[in-house]
Amino acid sequence: MARILVTRRLPEGGLDPLAGHDLVGPKPDDTAYSADELRALAPTVDAIVCLLTDTIDAALLAAGAAGSLRVVANVAVGYNNIDVDAARWHGVVVTNTPGVLDETTADTAFLLILAAARLAHTAEADLRAARWPGWGINQYLGVDVHGATLGIVGYGRIGRAVARRATGFDMTVLHHSRSDTGEPGYVADLDDLLARADIVTLHTPLTAEARHLIDARRLALMRPTAVLVITARGPVVDEAALADALHAGTIFAAGIDVFEAEPVVHPRLSSAPRTVLLPHIGSASIATRLRMATLAAEAAAAVLRGERPSNVVAELA
Ligand code: GLV
Repeated sequence: MARILVTRRLPEGGLDPLAGHDLVGPKPDDTAYSADELRALAPTVDAIVCLLTDTIDAALLAAGAAGSLRVVANVAVGYNNIDVDAARWHGVVVTNTPGVLDETTADTAFLLILAAARLAHTAEADLRAARWPGWGINQYLGVDVHGATLGIVGYGRIGRAVARRATGFDMTVLHHSRSDTGEPGYVADLDDLLARADIVTLHTPLTAEARHLIDARRLALMRPTAVLVITARGPVVDEAALADALHAGTIFAAGIDVFEAEPVVHPRLSSAPRTVLLPHIGSASIATRLRMATLAAEAAAAVLRGERPSNVVAELA
């Protein structure tokens, strides 16, 4: 029987694969452990099941490895909250949850594409606030999604799931990724894709190279009628530069689910016109969140049994 730290309350049934093990946490009020608390607990457990809001840094991993920590199972597909180089160094296996959230996250990206392009939130806010004077031919005029050119940045599982949806809207789909996919619509130069797309949606993981991939210079390449949608990770975009572009009207609209310093939103982004903001709900469906928790628990259980799950992102080479 292994001892496993579960940092936060997971969907009912998500921890079933760890039945029979000694589970520690979450805190009774389900608040986050501080960095110091996590570091103190790490050497006392064999596995940690954590969320993207938990920072698993080099100090924690060193402390854990000095004890019996063998695996960190992140209940997320992104793992920029974990120092994977340090994990590799200390021989701690890191796993994520690929595959189970692609369709739900692509649904969210499409929700933002439609809502931002058609100014749904502005119109709804006016209606609720009794600011709607009645139907008007020049009111709430958005840009069309059907027939538009969609530029997908990052063509992994989620990017491809968005592309599948776009075909139903008769969109022309372009995509950019670091290596040539060899598939129709591939655009080698990101700048070129930004200049050609009516709607740009970001699906690249947050790596060092992807930080501020979309900066002021690249925003300036986009069309004044363009819509930018972000469901990847906040730091992929320079939020201050995006706020400037929206306030100045150099792009038309934005739909944003992830932020540079969550849960804080850049104040100029909160006040930006034609901007839909969601609180990082990309994978938030009942079924998908359960699948994510179950996959993470299965991975931790497998590593503890001495097996190698397929969703390993870092292990001792
Ligand atoms: C959510 O953002 C995830 O990475 O799973």
